[in-house]
Amino acid sequence: MGQEILTDPLLGNNHKTIGEKEEKKNQRRSNQKIALCLVLILVAVSGYYFSDNITVLLSRQVTNHSLSHGTGNDVVESENGVVAADDGRCSEIGASVLRRGGHAVDAAVATSLCVGVVNPMSSGIGGGSFLIVSSPEDSKAEAFDMRETAPLAASKDMYKNDANAKFLGALSMGVPGEIAGLYEAWKRYGRLPWKPLFEPAIELARGGFVVAPYLGRAIASHSSLILKDPGLRNVFSTNGQVLKPGETCYNPKLAWSLEMISELGPGAFYNGTVGEKLVNDVKMAGGIITMEDLRSYKVRITDAMSVDVMGYTIHGMPPPSSGTVGFPMVMNILDSYSELYSASGNDLGLHRLIEAMKHMFAARMDLGDPEFVDITNAMNQMLSKTHAEEIQKRIFDNTTFPPEYYMNRWSQLRDQGTSHFCIVDADRNTVSMTTTVNFVFGAGVLSPSTGIVLNNEMDDFSVPTEITPDNLPPAPTNFIVPNKRPLSSMTPLVITKDGQLVAALGGSGGMNIIPAVIQVFLNFFVLKMKPLEAVESPRVYHMLMPNVVRYENFTAINGDHIGFTEDSKMFLEQRGHEVKEISGGAIVQLIVQNFKEEKDEEMIIEIARKIGKVYTKKAKQFKGLLTAVSDPRKDGKPAAV
Ligand SMILES: *[C@@H]1O[C@H](CO)[C@@H](O)[C@H](O)[C@H]1NC(C)=O
Ligand SMILES: *[C@@H]1O[C@H](CO)[C@@H](O)[C@H](O)[C@H]1NC(C)=O
Ligand SMILES: *[C@@H]1O[C@H](CO)[C@@H](O)[C@H](O)[C@H]1NC(C)=O
Ligand SMILES: *[C@@H]1O[C@H](CO)[C@@H](O)[C@H](O)[C@H]1NC(C)=O
Repeated sequence: MGQEILTDPLLGNNHKTIGEKEEKKNQRRSNQKIALCLVLILVAVSGYYFSDNITVLLSRQVTNHSLSHGTGNDVVESENGVVAADDGRCSEIGASVLRRGGHAVDAAVATSLCVGVVNPMSSGIGGGSFLIVSSPEDSKAEAFDMRETAPLAASKDMYKNDANAKFLGALSMGVPGEIAGLYEAWKRYGRLPWKPLFEPAIELARGGFVVAPYLGRAIASHSSLILKDPGLRNVFSTNGQVLKPGETCYNPKLAWSLEMISELGPGAFYNGTVGEKLVNDVKMAGGIITMEDLRSYKVRITDAMSVDVMGYTIHGMPPPSSGTVGFPMVMNILDSYSELYSASGNDLGLHRLIEAMKHMFAARMDLGDPEFVDITNAMNQMLSKTHAEEIQKRIFDNTTFPPEYYMNRWSQLRDQGTSHFCIVDADRNTVSMTTTVNFVFGAGVLSPSTGIVLNNEMDDFSVPTEITPDNLPPAPTNFIVPNKRPLSSMTPLVITKDGQLVAALGGSGGMNIIPAVIQVFLNFFVLKMKPLEAVESPRVYHMLMPNVVRYENFTAINGDHIGFTEDSKMFLEQRGHEVKEISGGAIVQLIVQNFKEEKDEEMIIEIARKIGKVYTKKAKQFKGLLTAVSDPRKDGKPAAV
């Protein structure tokens, strides 16, 4: 944040020079000065020196940036397009696609392929994703469900005799959806040809890429898994030593697979050589996926699920994502307190938030794949404002309760891993995409002939014989059926207000995703934090079982300390919460759009109204300043056009 420049204090927000021409900035400054003068004149005339509006405005600009003394550029701003991925190289690749006139979806293809190469522990073409795309033209958002499905030979009891096979080894693999989904989205929205979108990822896989600190950490903590599997060992170690941060990693077989798909289209994977080699490797490793599975994989394309929350509309993934339903449920509970105090960033607000999240986690286990189970009632209840009010009455400001109190019936889904990015292009087409292979390095198997890491998404299903820490029965709505998609915590969101884009966000980190997305939303939209602060502020997590609040208190990879206060900790303990310090939870990427001039204009109109004058509004603005933040926890960097 070193190069930040403060402009006129009354206009609040900080500007950065990135992606802006000096000339344009001067132009904007003089516009702002005109607006400022007008405001001052009107204020003076009206005598409303400290009207509410102005107090709000003033209090916003003194918001301290004390959190943001990190070394890199965790934030960029631009009016022409931005990409926030969890790796700077992939953000830059996405931005370069936008610079060539690409649609946000073109950039999403290139960015996700890049992430799959440089962060192979959490995503890749052997996995699946949720993608939301919104375009101002048709003022609606679409949802691409490219999540893995259960293979045709799968069954409810397939893990009866070997519980570990559900998450470890090729039998834990679901049918990958990533390439099929990217292709469908590109077919509908893409402007650039398919092939060049693959080139940067192919180059990284073949020419080698530097192991970033976060990948290095994942390799180190999974070294025995890596050294045990011939495929992983071949890519992530040399001479019996796993790769360290700063060393170069090569995956030429993955480069070949990507090249085939870039030339021949998704058929190379779903009905061609890449798929055949993959299926063969999977079979050798004990898996059950066949060419028929690949050939019959279907991307699910629907309208995004849109829900109004605290004056905003969130557009997200319908179930089997549990986030788009879970998020409004928590918000409605908080909103049903008479004061916004509930979320005002103080410790009582935090306690209420934790309680609301515990109720949400209990309720969400009634969800599942809507094409296989009827979840209408469960969904309606989770989205009901009346229900939220009833739950709010069951939350006590002085205490927390054991898990049974939250009416949890089923054992929790504990998904993991993942990667999230957001993209907004010059036309304000927006993509919010969360992609995963589930656990770190998925099934712990890399297909030697294709370089593809196998997902272990089957672990996201519930199975009848499972013994879990909560000692609760498994959720029947989430049992295995061939072609069914397992429940997920992934929560990619696009957020609009009055039909205009205001934000895109989402996170990675399995069960921690929903709490993280909720807290970043509250930080930005309710507590009015700056975008970086909203992402970087310490977060709390809860899993219902164990009945423990986990709070972040650690130093991130970039050197920033992300610290929870002793006071907050004591406050929670006094309410009976068991608390536990953790070093980092979910990773969140955020893009916001700020219609600054328009807001200033609204204030002018308001003041004019108070003094009995009429001020006519200029034409509605659709392109504000975009600010993109990549979570410093993973040391990602955003990029601007
Ligand atoms: C902002 O934070 C810094 C460092 O914590 C502190 O020195 C400074 O006084 C703060 N400024 C305001 C306006 O609170
Ligand atoms: C698979 O490829 C064959 C030709 O190799 C073609 O006849 C068939 O229609 C393809 N199937 C699908 C599902 O694309
Ligand atoms: C919390 O407050 C309620 C009344 O609002 C009271 O009945 C209850 O005993 C209190 N619980 C604790 C643990 O103090
Ligand atoms: C957070 O970490 C710091 C430094 O490691 C430590 O001094 C402090 O007690 C911790 N705070 C909490 C609430 O755990």
